[in-house]
Amino acid sequence: MSHTLTMMISQEEIAQRVQAIAIEINEHYKNSEAVILIGLLRGSAIFLADLSRLLTVPVILDFMATSSYGKGTDGGEVKILKELDEEIHGKDVLIVEDIVDTGNTLNKIKKMLLLRDPKSLAICTLLNKPARRQAEVVIDWQGFSIEDKFVVGYGMDYAQLYRNLPYVGIVNFD
Ligand code: IMP
Ligand code: MG
Repeated sequence: MSHTLTMMISQEEIAQRVQAIAIEINEHYKNSEAVILIGLLRGSAIFLADLSRLLTVPVILDFMATSSYGKGTDGGEVKILKELDEEIHGKDVLIVEDIVDTGNTLNKIKKMLLLRDPKSLAICTLLNKPARRQAEVVIDWQGFSIEDKFVVGYGMDYAQLYRNLPYVGIVNFD
């Protein structure tokens, strides 16, 4: 579909927020043995790369890939395409996400991971689109709350393109 992009959040604004979040996360986990950061592929890759490099607490990186299907029925099913490599039982776990939209993905992943009995389980997302929420998600750290617009960049895609944009842009369909 033909479209244009307009800037929503600049590279500088993102960098400032990521830094502020990193300070809070460092403080929160200052007594932790290690925090397992779980990046949800592929959208969280850029945020995870920037955020993790600002963390001074011991960090372990792991990744999970999911796909949702059957949207509209029971809020959609979430299927795991790539499991974690780490055992999270008794560990501090922080899920890192690009954007919480309907909330279905994180609602289900959080329930799934809680069954493994981590010491703690928190959620950090760059963006939050509360207008579209269907399932409850408690967000522990968020970069920005945004309006109901389709956005790309800083990890997020439209038809797999634009993930490498250094800023967050709105896709305008014409
Ligand atoms: P959910 O609706 O909260 O389950 O969000 C699932 C996933 O949809 C997010 O993690 C993103 O990868 C993707 N997504 C939701 N809104 C947008 C958007 O505006 N742009 C790009 N991807 C999005
Ligand atoms: Mg995502």
